[in-house]
Amino acid sequence: MLPSLNWRPASLLTITLACGFVTSSRANPIAHSSHNIIESVPDLPNLDEWIADEADIALDALLENIHPPDTLPGVVVASPSRKDPDYFYHWTRDAALVLSVAQMVYEHGVDNGGAKDTMLENILWNYARFEQHLQTVPNPSSNIAEPKWNVDGTAYTLPWGRPQNDGPALRAQTLTLFAQSHLRKHQNTSLITSLLYDSRFPSSSLIKNNLEFTSHNWQEDTVDLWEEIRGTHFYTLMVQHSSLVHGSRFAEEMGDIGAARWYAAQSRKIASKLEEHWSPEHRILQSTLSRTGGIGYKSSNLDVSILLASLHTDPPSLFDHPRHPFMPHPHFLHTPYPPWSDEVLSTAMKLDHVMSSLYPINNITNVNDLPIANAIGRYPEDRYDGIGTSSLGNPWFLTTLAYAEVLYRTAVEWSHQNWIPVTDVTLDLLKWIGAFHPNSTNPHSHTAEIGKYAISRVPVRRAHSPVLFDWIIKHLGKKADAYFRRVQLHALGRESGKMAEQINRVDGKMQGARSLTWSHAAFVTAVVARDKFLGSLEGEVGEGMGRYTLGDQRRFASLKLQLLKKR
Ligand code: NOJ
Ligand code: NOJ
Repeated sequence: MLPSLNWRPASLLTITLACGFVTSSRANPIAHSSHNIIESVPDLPNLDEWIADEADIALDALLENIHPPDTLPGVVVASPSRKDPDYFYHWTRDAALVLSVAQMVYEHGVDNGGAKDTMLENILWNYARFEQHLQTVPNPSSNIAEPKWNVDGTAYTLPWGRPQNDGPALRAQTLTLFAQSHLRKHQNTSLITSLLYDSRFPSSSLIKNNLEFTSHNWQEDTVDLWEEIRGTHFYTLMVQHSSLVHGSRFAEEMGDIGAARWYAAQSRKIASKLEEHWSPEHRILQSTLSRTGGIGYKSSNLDVSILLASLHTDPPSLFDHPRHPFMPHPHFLHTPYPPWSDEVLSTAMKLDHVMSSLYPINNITNVNDLPIANAIGRYPEDRYDGIGTSSLGNPWFLTTLAYAEVLYRTAVEWSHQNWIPVTDVTLDLLKWIGAFHPNSTNPHSHTAEIGKYAISRVPVRRAHSPVLFDWIIKHLGKKADAYFRRVQLHALGRESGKMAEQINRVDGKMQGARSLTWSHAAFVTAVVARDKFLGSLEGEVGEGMGRYTLGDQRRFASLKLQLLKKR
């Protein structure tokens, strides 16, 4: 099934060679001094205002890539680009992640069941019907884990990294959340039972079929989300776990009690399997274990997919309260490794550190005295330049945005729980975000106070140290904003703000598939996390954090209106 290391269609090889800008940037990376970027973007406009404008662009781009001309209803193209590279296909993973943004807005509602809510609902049903159709199409994976489809609903039959078992899990998860939202709004089970969940076994209904596949096949090795390595992957297991946790709850709602127990039992087994990915020696969650094929040069096993896993297992919601009430046993949580866990944060810091010297553009650390965080790529050894793999990898928009989202979500979680854990990892985190300078000599500073916590190891409680607590939370927000500013630096004034897949590591220009749908979905979810973060500051306005502190409803209303005003 896995013929060679090169799974790209042969034509891409020639495209790589034809791709002049890649060659020239590689020839002399230093000659392209990072000053180029600063000169071309002398002034970065206010971040809040830019984010509001860019959210508008992102939402439009996202909707444009759903069922564009020449495609069937329900198709989500990965990008409108049909050449260099050809991304005009329906990828199961990209589609599920993009549709989870549409589901987020649908769940919250926009106009009380009016035209806009109906439009969103139609997008989601069309997606469901298209996916249902794909389940019946013979394909090279011979199962529902085929990763990529033609936009006319036929199978893509050229060599590819297949199967990709994260697909059925993500598809099930997005549709489960949609089905639950739909039932809450319409109380009409017949629509749901006919297409999405019929409680029969074997089942031809979409969610159940995908939960059955996931619960029976999670032990199989599979190709990873980057479509390059076969083995056991943290990302795949994480989304399989969360889809079964969400699915188990939904099965119970649908009266399918035996299935609910089976999905929950399998999710618990996956949770313990996931623990094997932690390397105590390197203090990272390793992306792949038991590699059986595919590329062999990914020696660090350090991959941004760990952060993506922590985000994609807890899909965004426009509500302030958690989607599911408190669950007593950690194995019932939809994610055993949330963004604020020591394991995810430790991995994030290690990867950021490697990336900081890997990409020349990361020499830029501030513009106009405002901090710019590192541009982040998939993993250090990456060779995929957006067209082929005979070059060097680059930072990506969606992976840089993942850092912002992880940090905002961490700040919100700590803010809600009113305490901050003091561990080796969180102490490193405080140094990394500039809140803790262990060598400072000022005995009255916040950093001296953190020094005392570093010795006692008791948590920083808001009730006990309110000023220090806020200082830390705001530093998390500032670091997260610095990742947004990095995205701003490379998106502003280029391609009308539509984010491609990659950012050239040397000249900072966009590279690879233009207007990548997933880049825009990642932007929206990071903005939602930022909105919640700003809401959690409770009216206290940090530097450069002013514009959105109007109260949740108005902020979310602006996001929703942005989503819908053009259609
Ligand atoms: C295209 C894939 O989409 C990309 O992720 C991968 O790096 C290359 N092919 C090489 O396999
Ligand atoms: C390449 C990425 O590696 C993969 O994750 C994605 O699904 C495809 N591009 C399509 O965007």
